[in-house]
Amino acid sequence: MKTRLTLIYIIGIILTAGLILVSCGEEKKEYRIGVSQCSNDDWRNKMNEEIEREILVHPEASVEIRSAEDSNAKQIADIRYFANNGFDIIIVAPNEADAITPVIDSVYRSGIPVVVFDRNVNGHSYTAFQGADNEKIGVLAARYASNLMRGKGSVLELSGLKGSTPAISRHEGFRKELESHPGIKIEASAYGNWKYEDALHLTDSLLSVYPDVDCIYAHNDRMAVAASDAARRRKLDPYIIGIDAAPEIGMKAVRDSVIDATFLYPTEGHRLIKTALAILKGEPYDSVAKLPIPSAVDLSNADILLIQNESLKEETSKMKSLKSEINQYWDRHSAQTTLFYVSIAFVVMLCVLLFFILRAFWLRKGYQETLLRKNEQLASQHEEQKRLNTRLEEATRSKLMFFTNVSHDLRTPLTLIAEPVEQLAGAGNLTPSQKTLMHIADKNVRILKRLLNQILDFRAYENGKLDVNLVETDFGALAKDWVEAFSNVARSRDIKLDIKIEDADLRLAVDEEKIERVVYNLMSNALKYTPANGSVCFSCGREGDKIFFSVCDNGPGIKEEDRKRIFDRFFQVDRVHPKGSGIGLSLTKAFVELHGGEINVESEVGKGSEFKVILPVVHVGVDTESSVAGTDHAAIEAELADVETQEREFSEDKPVILVIDDNEDIRVMLEELLSDKYNVVGASNGREGIRYATRYVPDLVVCDVMMPVMDGLECCRNIKEEISTSHIPVLMLTACSMDEQKVAGYESGADGYISKPFNSAVLRSRIENLLENRRRIKNIWGASHDRSEGDLSKPANGSAERRIVSTDVENEFYARFLKLVESRMGDADMNVDQLASEMGLGRSQLYRKIKALTNYSPVELIRNLRLKRARHLLTTTDRSISEIAYEVGFSTPAYFSKCYREAYGETPTELRSRL
Ligand code: FRU
Repeated sequence: MKTRLTLIYIIGIILTAGLILVSCGEEKKEYRIGVSQCSNDDWRNKMNEEIEREILVHPEASVEIRSAEDSNAKQIADIRYFANNGFDIIIVAPNEADAITPVIDSVYRSGIPVVVFDRNVNGHSYTAFQGADNEKIGVLAARYASNLMRGKGSVLELSGLKGSTPAISRHEGFRKELESHPGIKIEASAYGNWKYEDALHLTDSLLSVYPDVDCIYAHNDRMAVAASDAARRRKLDPYIIGIDAAPEIGMKAVRDSVIDATFLYPTEGHRLIKTALAILKGEPYDSVAKLPIPSAVDLSNADILLIQNESLKEETSKMKSLKSEINQYWDRHSAQTTLFYVSIAFVVMLCVLLFFILRAFWLRKGYQETLLRKNEQLASQHEEQKRLNTRLEEATRSKLMFFTNVSHDLRTPLTLIAEPVEQLAGAGNLTPSQKTLMHIADKNVRILKRLLNQILDFRAYENGKLDVNLVETDFGALAKDWVEAFSNVARSRDIKLDIKIEDADLRLAVDEEKIERVVYNLMSNALKYTPANGSVCFSCGREGDKIFFSVCDNGPGIKEEDRKRIFDRFFQVDRVHPKGSGIGLSLTKAFVELHGGEINVESEVGKGSEFKVILPVVHVGVDTESSVAGTDHAAIEAELADVETQEREFSEDKPVILVIDDNEDIRVMLEELLSDKYNVVGASNGREGIRYATRYVPDLVVCDVMMPVMDGLECCRNIKEEISTSHIPVLMLTACSMDEQKVAGYESGADGYISKPFNSAVLRSRIENLLENRRRIKNIWGASHDRSEGDLSKPANGSAERRIVSTDVENEFYARFLKLVESRMGDADMNVDQLASEMGLGRSQLYRKIKALTNYSPVELIRNLRLKRARHLLTTTDRSISEIAYEVGFSTPAYFSKCYREAYGETPTELRSRL
C-alpha cells in the first residue's frame, strides 16, 4: 500500500515536470496570418520583405506567404489552404478579379477576416483594402510622357493582365490625362499580362507596325524592360516609361538607361501586417487605405534611391540577423529555463524520494524495535512457560509417581479383599440376597483390580519398562478362544456375537498376554456400549504380510471430535458419566504399538464403531510355550455379566421406593438392601425415572445426580413440579459431596442428600426418616377432615406444621380437589373416575396422590367430607335428617345414618336429641 502511494507521488512529479518542459519548449503564437500573392516578382519580393520585417516586431503573430505564380487556380487553392488550416486572417492580392472574387467571398462569409491589397475584387466581400491610386499613376505617367515628347508624339501602351484592376485603372488614368494633351496620340494599347515574355513579343509586333512611335508606356517595369529590349533589337529608341520602381528591375533599368522613367508603386507590406493585427485585436484600422504616389524615378534620383534601398536591405539583413540572434538567445533561454525546471523537478523528485527512503528507514527501524521488544517479551514469556512446564512436569511426575505408588499399595489390600470375596461369593450357605451382594462385590473388586493393573502397565509402558514376550501362536485359534469367552455375557444381554476367523495362515509371534488384553478391552467395550438386541462382531484374517483383527458393534458410535482423541491417555468420551477410566484404549494402543502394529477406529454416530488392529507377521523361530493359561470364561462373566437378581413379589403393605441410577450394580445392591422393608423399582436414567414415578407414584425416590439422558437434578425438579408426584420425597444419592452441588440438589426440590460411598444403615435410616415425615404429613391432612367442620380446604394444624408438610403444589391440588367435591356434594353418583379426569390424572394416580396426602382413599375421603358437611348442617340448621342426607349426596337416609354412626359413634337422631 505504501509502495503504491510512493509510486503515485513520483509519477505525479514526473508528469508535472513533463508539463513544465512542454510548456517551456513550445512558443505559442497567438495570431496566424496567411498572405496569398498572385505573382512572384521583384515588386512582390520587396513587399514580402516588408511583411517579414514587420512580423519580426510582432512576436504574437506568425505569417505564411504563398505565391500563385500568376495562376488563378493556384491562388484559389492557396486561399482555401489558409481557410482550412486555422489561419486567423487572410491577406490577398487577387490575380484576376472575376476568377478570385468567389473564393474570397466565401471565406469572408465564413467569418475569416480578409484584407485585399494591390489588385481589387468585384464588390466588397472583404474586411479591408489597401492599395495605391492606379488611375493617378496613369495620369502621372501621361503627364511625364507628354513632357518627354514636349506635347507632341505617338505612344504605344503595354497593359497589364486583362481582368486585373490596376491594369484597368492605369489605362483609364493615362487615357483620360492624354485627352488634355491633344498633341499626343495612343497608337495602340495591348495586354502584356504583366510579364516580360508576353510584353517582348507584343512590343516587337507593335513596333513592326508603328516603328516611328515616340514613347512606350508599360504598366510595369518588367514589360518596360521587355519593350526596351524589343526596340533595341529593331534599332529603335523610343522613350520608355514603366511603373513599380522596384529596386532590382525598375530602378536599375532607369539607372542603366534601359528605360527612361518609372513610377513608384508603393508596396507598404508592413502596413498590411499592422492592419491585419488591428483587425484581429479589435483595434481601429482603415477599411480602405489609399497609398500615396511619390514622383517619378528617373536618372536624377535612381542612384540615390538604389543606395537608399541597399542601405535599407542592409538594415533589414542586420535586423534579421539581430532577430535570429535574439531567437537563438531566446532558444537558449528556453532551453536553460527548461533545464532549470527539469533540475527543479529532479531536485523535488529527489527530495520526495529521500523523504520516502528516510520514512521507510525510520518505519523499519520502528518496526524492528517493536519486533525486538516483542521478541524479548516472547523470549521471557517462553522462559516463564518453560519454567512453568518444568514445574508442571515435575508436579505431574510426582503426581503420577504418587498415583503409581498408591496403585501399588492398593494392589495388596485389594488382593486380600478379592480372594475372600471370591471365596465367599462361591459359598453355598448364603441367602439369595447375600449371594447377590457378594457377586456385586466380587465383580467390582475384579474391575478395580483390572483398573489398577492397567494403570501400572501404562506407567511401565510410559517409562519404557514394559517387556514384550513374543511366542509363536496360531492367532486364529487363540483369538477364537478369547472371543468365545464373551458368548455367555453377550447372550445374557441379548447381544448377537458373530465370530469370523478367516481360513488362512494366521500364525505369528505375539505377546499373548498383552494381545489377549487388547482383545478383552475391545470386546468388553463393544459389549458395554451395545444395547440389548444389538450385535457385536469379531473378525480376524490376513492382509498380505499382516494379520488383522477387528471388533465392530452397532452401538451409539463415536463423535468425530472424540474419535481423534479416543486413544489419548485419560480421555473419556462421556465426561459427565464415563463408562470407563479412560486408560483402557490408550493401553490397548500401547500394547499394539509394542508389537509394531497399529490400531484404527471407524465410527458413525447412531450406527456403530469398528476397531481394527493390524499386526505385522513376525516369527521368533522356536515355538515357546504359551504364556497365557486358557481363557478364564468364569472370570470374564464375573466381571462383565450383569448380576442376577431374584424375582420379588410386589407386596401391597410395603412402601414403594424408586431407585434411579444408571449403574446397574448400585440399583441391584439397593434393591437387595431395601427389599426386606420396601418394594424397590429401578430406573436407569432421569427420563425413565420420571416415567416410573408417574406410573407407580412411589412413596420415595432415591436418585443419582450424574446420569446420562437426564441428570438427577432435572429429574427431581420434574417430579416436584408434576401434580401426581410432587408429594414424593426425593433422596439424592451421589458421588459429589461438594456443598454447591448439595445446594443445587435442594434447590431442585430434593428432600435429602446422601454421598457415595454410603453406609447402608445410614441410607436406611434416612429413607425411614423421610417416610415417617411423610406419614406425619398424611396424618395432619387426614386430621383436618376430622377436626375442621367449616372450611374443608385447609388442614387444621398450626401454620408451622403446615409449612413443613405442604408445598404450594400440594395446597393447590388439595384445594382444587375439595372444591370439586364441594360442588358435586349433592350428587350421589359422583365417582372417582370423573373426579380423576377433571383433576387431569388417571384413576390410580389420583388414588395414590390422595392416599399419600391424606391416608384416605378418594372414596373414603369423599364420604368423610359428606359426613362432615352433614354434621355441620345437623348442628347449625333446622333441616330434617333426610333433607340433609340427600343434600350431602347419600342415596338413602338409612345408609346416611349407618355411615354417620360408624364415623361419629352416634346416629344423626341421637345428635339432634342431644342438642
Ligand atoms: C507585380 C505587378 C507589378 C504591378 C502590379 C499590379 O506582380 O505586376 O509589376 O505593378 O503587379 O498589380
